[in-house]
Amino acid sequence: MRDAQDGGWPGEAIFYGADYNPEQWPEEVWAEDVALMRRAGVNLVSVGIFSWAQLEPAFDRYDFGWLDRALDLLHAHGIGVDLATATASPPPWLARAYPETLPRRADGAILWPGGRQAYCPSSPVFRRRSLALVEAVATRYAAHPAVLMWHVSNELGCHNAHCYCDVSAAAFRRWLRERYRDLDALNAAWGTTFWSQRYGDWAEINPPRAAPTFANPTQQLDFLRFSSDEQRAQLRAERRVLKRLVRQPVTTNFMIGAGGKHLDYHSWAADVDLVANDHYLTAADPQAHLGLALAADHTRGVAGGAPWLLMEHSTSAVNWQPRNVAKTPGQLRRNSLAHVARGADGVLFFQWRASRAGAEKFHSALVPHAGPETKVFREVCRLGAELRALAELRGSRVDADVAILVDYEAWWGVELDSHPSVDVTYTDRLAALHGALWRAGVTADLVHPSTDLTGYRLVLVPTLYLVRDADAEALTRYVHGGGTALVTYFSGIVDEHDHIRLGGYPGAYRDLLGIRTEEFFPLRAGERVTLDDGSTADVWTEWLHPTGAQVLASYADGPLPGVPALTRHAAGAGAAWYVGTRLDDAATDRLVARLLAEAGVRPAADAPPGVEVVRRRGDGRSWLFVINHTDRPARLAVTGTDLLTGADCAGDLLVKAGEVAVIREAGVEEGRCSPGSGRAPSSS
Ligand code: GLA
Repeated sequence: MRDAQDGGWPGEAIFYGADYNPEQWPEEVWAEDVALMRRAGVNLVSVGIFSWAQLEPAFDRYDFGWLDRALDLLHAHGIGVDLATATASPPPWLARAYPETLPRRADGAILWPGGRQAYCPSSPVFRRRSLALVEAVATRYAAHPAVLMWHVSNELGCHNAHCYCDVSAAAFRRWLRERYRDLDALNAAWGTTFWSQRYGDWAEINPPRAAPTFANPTQQLDFLRFSSDEQRAQLRAERRVLKRLVRQPVTTNFMIGAGGKHLDYHSWAADVDLVANDHYLTAADPQAHLGLALAADHTRGVAGGAPWLLMEHSTSAVNWQPRNVAKTPGQLRRNSLAHVARGADGVLFFQWRASRAGAEKFHSALVPHAGPETKVFREVCRLGAELRALAELRGSRVDADVAILVDYEAWWGVELDSHPSVDVTYTDRLAALHGALWRAGVTADLVHPSTDLTGYRLVLVPTLYLVRDADAEALTRYVHGGGTALVTYFSGIVDEHDHIRLGGYPGAYRDLLGIRTEEFFPLRAGERVTLDDGSTADVWTEWLHPTGAQVLASYADGPLPGVPALTRHAAGAGAAWYVGTRLDDAATDRLVARLLAEAGVRPAADAPPGVEVVRRRGDGRSWLFVINHTDRPARLAVTGTDLLTGADCAGDLLVKAGEVAVIREAGVEEGRCSPGSGRAPSSS
C-alpha cells in the first residue's frame, strides 16, 4: 500500500464530501447542488456508484452525456471527484440475458434483481461485463481534471458475500485445487474421516450448502476464505484495468467495524492505493462512539498506520436499522472529528442530497428533504470550515503504544457452529478491552497477528481462537524480548485447518502463558461467578493448572471454586497474562489499568470520564483531540492552541459539554508515532 509520502494521497487538503448521485435529480437541481457544496466546503464527491443502468442502458450501448455534464459542472466549481467504476449493481438487462449471473443462498434460493448487488461474485459473465464498463468509464474520464481518485465498485460483498450456486461451486473447487493440490491433502485438512465425508473426486465437493446437520467446519472455513478471495478478485480485476488506463489512485470502500466479518480486509489492503472505510453507528447503542473508535482504530491498522479516508458515514439517521435514531445536535461533528483523531484524513458521507424515491429515502444526507435551512446543513457547513482549519495535520500519524491482535480467520473460526458456548463471540472481548483502553485515554492499533510488534509496549490478544504457528511464535518472541501481553480465553485453540492443538488448552500459547487447561466449563445463560478479588464474571470458566504462571485471582464460587481465573507468567524479559473468564466491565477496566501500569503506557492526556483523548503527530508537532461526549464541561491540563477556535490554553483547557477541541500542543516531548506506521501488515 502506498501512503501519503509516496503519492497515494491526492492533494494536500483534508477531504470533505459525500456520495453524489446527480442521476437521481433533474439537471436544474445540480446548479443548487454545486452552490451548496461550495457553501459547505465540500471538496470531494463520489460519483456514479450505482449508475451502471444509466451509463449502459442496454448491452454495449453507452450513454455518458449526463456524466460528462455532471463532472464538468463539479470541476467548474472546484469540486474534486472520486469516480466510481459503476459496477456495484448490474442493470436488470444483465440478469434477463444471463440468469446464471444471479446469486443463490445456501438453501438454493435465487436472489433476484430489484434490490442491489444481485450477482454471483464468481460469474465470468459478470466479470466480463463489469470490466467492459470499467474500461469504457476509465477510457473516457482518465484525463478529466475533476477526477482525483477512482472508486472500485461499492462495499464489495455487502449483500452477496457468499454465493452457493453451481458457478460458485466450480470456482470453489478451482480455489481448493490451488490450495491443496491433491485430494489427500484436502481430506486431511478437512478431517473427512469423520462422519464418512471422504472425497474421492473433486467433483463431489460443493460449497457448504444447507445440509441435514452441521457442515464440516474446515469446509465452512475454506468457503469463507474462498468467498473473501472471490470478492477481492473483482477488486483486483477492476484495479488492473484502471492501472492500465488512469494515473489517479484507486480505492474501494471497506466495511471495517459495523460491516461485519465477511471479508479479510487485512489481505485486501495491498490492492488499494489508500484505505477507505464506511462506518455507521449502531443507533440503539448509547455508547456507539466506542464502536466508532474501534472501527477507526481497526481501519488504521489495516492501513498500516497510514492516513485513511472515511468514505461514508451519516449526518444523522440511517434507514436500515430497526429504529433509526437521529443524531443529536453536535453529534455529527463529534463523530466526524473522532474519525479524524484516529487517522482519517477525509470525512465523507452517504449521501449529498436525501433521495426522493427508493429504499434509502429516509436516510439522512447533507441536504435533507427539508433543504439547507436545517440543523443538519448548518452543522455540515460548520464542519466543512473546521476541517479546513485542521489542514496542517494532514499526513500526520496517530500515537499508539498498544496493539490489539485481530484476525478475520479467527473471527470466522470462533463463530462456527458446534462449539462449547454460543455466548463466545469474536468481537465481545475485543470491544471490552478496546473500551477499557478508551476509558483509560489510551489509543490502540488493531493489527493482524503477523504484524511486527516491535515498539508496542502492550499487546492484547482477545479470543484469537485460530492462530498460525508463526504468529503464535511471534507473540512469544515479543514477550521474551520484554513485551507485556494479555491473552483471553478460547484463544490459541486450533491451527489454520481448525484442528485442535493437543496436549491441553490453549495449545498455541500454553508455554508462553505457563498454564494448561484440561477442560472448559462454560456457564449457563445468566449464570455468574465471583473471583476471590471481588470481580464478577459470566459466560466462561475453565479448569486451568498453572505450570509456571503466578495466580492473580481464582474462582470463589461457580463450578470451579479455587481454580485460577487470572494468571501472569514472567517469560524471558516480559510477561504474559491470561484471563480465563469473561470479566465484567469494571473488572476489565481494573485489569487493563494493571497492564498499562506494568507496561508503562500513559494516556494521551488525563481526562475526566467520557472525554475521548487521542494524539496525532507529524513533522515534529503534535495535536491532541479532546472530544467531550458528556453533558458536563471538562477541564484538562493542556497547553497549546485550539485550531477550531484559535484560542490559546496554558495548562487549563475547558471543553464544554458535547464540544471538541483540537490542540496544537506546546511542550509535548517528541514521541514515536504509531509503531506500526508505514508497515503494511502481511497476511497469508
Ligand atoms: C452503505 C452503502 C451506501 C448506502 C449506505 C446507507 O454504506 O455503501 O450506498 O446504502 O450504506 O447507510
